[in-house]
Order: sequence, then C-alpha cells, then structure tokens
Amino acid sequence: MTTSKISPPKYLQEFSSEEWKKFLSTLPKEKGWMESTIYNYQGFWSSSRATQGVMACQKQFQAQDDDIILVTTPKSGTVWLKSLLFALVNRKSNPIFEQDHPLLVKNPHDLVLFLELDLYVDGQVPDFSLFTSPRLMATHVPFASLPKSVRNSRTKIVYLCRNPRDTFISMWQFANNLRLDNYKDTNSIEEMFDHFCKGMSLYGPFWNHVLDYWRESLENPDKVIFLMYEEIKKQPKIQLKRLAEFLECPFSNEEENCGVVDEILRVCSFENLRNLEVNTNGKLSAGVANKNFFRRGEIGDWKNYFTVEMKDKLNEIIEQKLQGSGLKFSYI
Ligand code: A3P
Repeated sequence: MTTSKISPPKYLQEFSSEEWKKFLSTLPKEKGWMESTIYNYQGFWSSSRATQGVMACQKQFQAQDDDIILVTTPKSGTVWLKSLLFALVNRKSNPIFEQDHPLLVKNPHDLVLFLELDLYVDGQVPDFSLFTSPRLMATHVPFASLPKSVRNSRTKIVYLCRNPRDTFISMWQFANNLRLDNYKDTNSIEEMFDHFCKGMSLYGPFWNHVLDYWRESLENPDKVIFLMYEEIKKQPKIQLKRLAEFLECPFSNEEENCGVVDEILRVCSFENLRNLEVNTNGKLSAGVANKNFFRRGEIGDWKNYFTVEMKDKLNEIIEQKLQGSGLKFSYI
C-alpha cells in the first residue's frame, strides 16, 4: 500500500534550512496559536514563517514618501480596514458604484498585501512594478520593528486596534478554526487566555503593540493615525472621512452628495463582504479559507465567553499597562 504525505498549508510551513533552525533555536519559544510554536524576535511573538518575513522586509523594503502602510494587531478588523482603504484610495480608478469593483470579486487580503506574510515571505523578492501609486501595504509588525525606511520617510501609517477582550476571543476562535482544519484539535480558552495575559499573543504583547502606535500618533499626528474598531463601528462615516483627510484625499461635496461615502461603507460592511462568493468559498494563496475572516463582526462577543475572573484579570493588566497613556478601550 502506498501512503501519500499531505504537506501542511503554506501558512503552517517552516523555513527549514539548517541556518534558520539554528537561528530559531536562539529565540525564546512558546506553544503557538494555530502553529505548533511561536518565537520571540525583537520582543514580540510570531511564527517561524512570519519572523523570517519580518527579517527580510526589515533588510530589503524601501518605503516611498507616498506609501500607505496599514498596521493592525491581529484580529482587530484588518480585513475591514483593508477593504475601506482600498476603496477610499482607489476610488478614482475603481469607482465604488462599479458592478465589477475589485472588492466584489477578491478578498481584501489579496488586494492589500502584508509585507511580512505575502511580499517578503518564503524568501520572495516582491515585484513593485505591478503596484499603482500610492502603494498600499499592510503589516502586523510593532512600531519599533518596522523597516527603518517606513519610520524615516513620510510614509503614512494607518493603525487599527480593538478592545483586548474581543481581540482575544477573535484570535482564539480564528486559531482554533485553523487548528481544526489542520491538526483536528483545538486549544482551550483557559490556556490561550493565560498566553494572552502573559503577552504571548500574535505580534504581542498586545499592550506594547497598541501603546507604541498610540504614542507615535500623539507625537506625530501627520504620520500615524490611530483608529479603533469600536469607533468605526459606532461612527463609520466620521471615521472614514477622518481617514480620508489624514491621507490627504478628502471627499468632495459632490462625492458626498452622490453617496460615495455611504456606498464605500456599504460595500465594505461585514454583511456585504461576508456574503460574497469569494469570501464564502474562496481561499488565500497561503491556504486559509476566506470565510475564516468573517465570523461575527460585533462589539461585545467576549460576553459570551468571559468569566468574571477573566474580565477582572484582563482589566487589571490593561489598566496597569495603559496607566497615564490617555488611551481607553470601549467594550460595548
Ligand atoms: P470576530 O472574530 O469578532 O467576528 P482581522 O481582519 O484582523 O483578522 O479581524 C477579524 C475580525 O474582524 C473578526 O471579528 C471579523 O468578523 C471582523 N470583521 C471582518 N470584516 C468586518 C467588517 N466588514 N466589519 C466589521 N467587522 C469585520
């Protein structure tokens, strides 16, 4: 009898050269969320594959002054903001009312690529000649570990985070869905909550990630805009217009009167994106099914999972970490 060995999807594969293994062995490591192991490189946690991508883009990526880099803590609504940014920035070349708008046939992750997870992953050399200007790219990398040219150029940084309770639930659920697909197992909420509270979340500690970009946005408001999932949910029009002003492409009166703002919000809404054929049945090239990025899309799902003890514990940590920063999260 012959047995065929099925290789894991790309996002779970490890760069396996001896040199890389040797390097990884020098890093602190812990149990992973969807992969077997996460590593601590430059003070934050991520997979072997992502770490390799981070190092490659730190060495090679040359930012341009008109680039726009979207940065998020994972599971804070990256896919939503990618769709909003794509629609906003490309609204002249891809009018939002068009029946064949790219957002209707492609997942936002395929329209705005991650530096470390798409462009520089697996030793690839990206072909930027295929990009239009301004170049839109994304990353989850903490501020201190961004490629130097991003920090030193006039590149705009659009940062998005979400309250830590919903971020945690979303991360735990997402990771378990991928684990079920690949390993046929799941991680318990208790174990991963403990991980999160110890700072061992993807690209975490969560609070370091958020606070570094928060401080940068206060010190350098023309370079970094700080957005929150909850604020976009509650005041989508105000936040989208704020984003357009920050990117120096404000909506004209004519656009507003023609309903462009409303239509961008409708096309990018959870209900619309989730029900598109590409997002119900499609997959990213790395192998993740697109439907995994559209779960509930609400504020407050944490209430269905958190015990009082979990709520108190995370509150205490977040209050202590955020003390004096002026940053506050909304949980409802
Ligand atoms: P839930 O798991 O709480 O439902 P990311 O894109 O960073 O991976 O974040 C995924 C989270 O954003 C998921 O949260 C997902 O449902 C939510 N989301 C995706 N698209 C959204 C949209 N258009 N509007 C609001 N939330 C959205």
